[in-house]
Amino acid sequence: EKGTYDHYMLKEINDQPAAMRKIIQEYQDEAGNLKIDSSIIEQLNNSDRIYIIAAGTSYHAGLIGKEFFEKWAGVPTEVHVASEFVYNTPLLSEKPLFIFISQSGETADSRAVLVDIKKRGHKSLTVTNVPGSTLSREADETLILHAGPEIAVASTKAYTAQIAVLSILAQVAARELGRDTGIELMKELAKVTTAITAIIEDAPKIEAIVKDYLETSRNAFFIGRTLDYYVGLEGALKLKEISYIQAEGFAGGELKHGTIALIEEGTPVFALTTQEKVNLNIRGNAQEVAARGANVCTVSMEGLDQEGDAYVIPRVHSSLTALVSVVVYQFVSYYAALHRGNDVDKPRNLAKSVTVE
Ligand code: F6R
Repeated sequence: EKGTYDHYMLKEINDQPAAMRKIIQEYQDEAGNLKIDSSIIEQLNNSDRIYIIAAGTSYHAGLIGKEFFEKWAGVPTEVHVASEFVYNTPLLSEKPLFIFISQSGETADSRAVLVDIKKRGHKSLTVTNVPGSTLSREADETLILHAGPEIAVASTKAYTAQIAVLSILAQVAARELGRDTGIELMKELAKVTTAITAIIEDAPKIEAIVKDYLETSRNAFFIGRTLDYYVGLEGALKLKEISYIQAEGFAGGELKHGTIALIEEGTPVFALTTQEKVNLNIRGNAQEVAARGANVCTVSMEGLDQEGDAYVIPRVHSSLTALVSVVVYQFVSYYAALHRGNDVDKPRNLAKSVTVE
């Protein structure tokens, strides 16, 4: 039930701190150790490469997941759009593990890959919000998101839940491989929860940003580097699907290789910077577009912030910033759609789960 909220999407954005707490609780044993079924750990131990398969927002969560598996666990990881993978399968490693990320567990594109890789005899793990869903039943193993039902077509809490669960899985993989990540993950996820709550309380401020940057625009860009680039892809997708503003997520450094030609007087550009090693680079890219007339809205993180930034998120672990920064973009799309009088929860041309290939 959406209760006192005007829309399911708003409720589901607001559900995120509770979903994070639930995940922390579900994936921890009494002694406070991370808890993942031994059969899944065995799958990880027996694989030499992870292939993450997903669509849309779940694909964007997979891009963040790759960071955890590679940086923490040292396991090579590829992330693929399901509809492409099935007809354009790359050369596989000897012992691949396929991880399907799907909120609904019903996406036909992802299922087509699952059917195919099963025929080839490969192992599969589904990460889904829906126990008993098709992808859960048909894969060897399942991890549940525990985000609670997601009703709005635009995915919000499933994305953050997917990232959190992938981080836990990768941390366990690292532990199994005897690698010290130096991260107390559950503590960091608790900090993330507090940070998300702070942003939710700041919603009116983000509504004002929408008034400043998006009220009359027909297009928008979301730039970032490394993890912030991936969050930009998600921000752009969210904005497109419910506000119908043409939006593009772009790697900050790649913009000047062509796309910068689209920047005009007043074009909104959201620049996200939460990664210290590229903070100056992305700020440079923001200046390049500002010099060509763009209306740049910089979203940064405490410790990397500068005067003039439109929004500063609380500081969290550098690998986990997507969990927090995305919430700013979720609100940006929500208010942009609301101000345009769109049906926020049921955008045109879209269905909650896409069961055709
Ligand atoms: C975007 C959105 C879609 C889904 C995609 C995959 O807000 O909801 O892009 O993420 O259709 O759906 P699942 O995760 O159910 O496989």
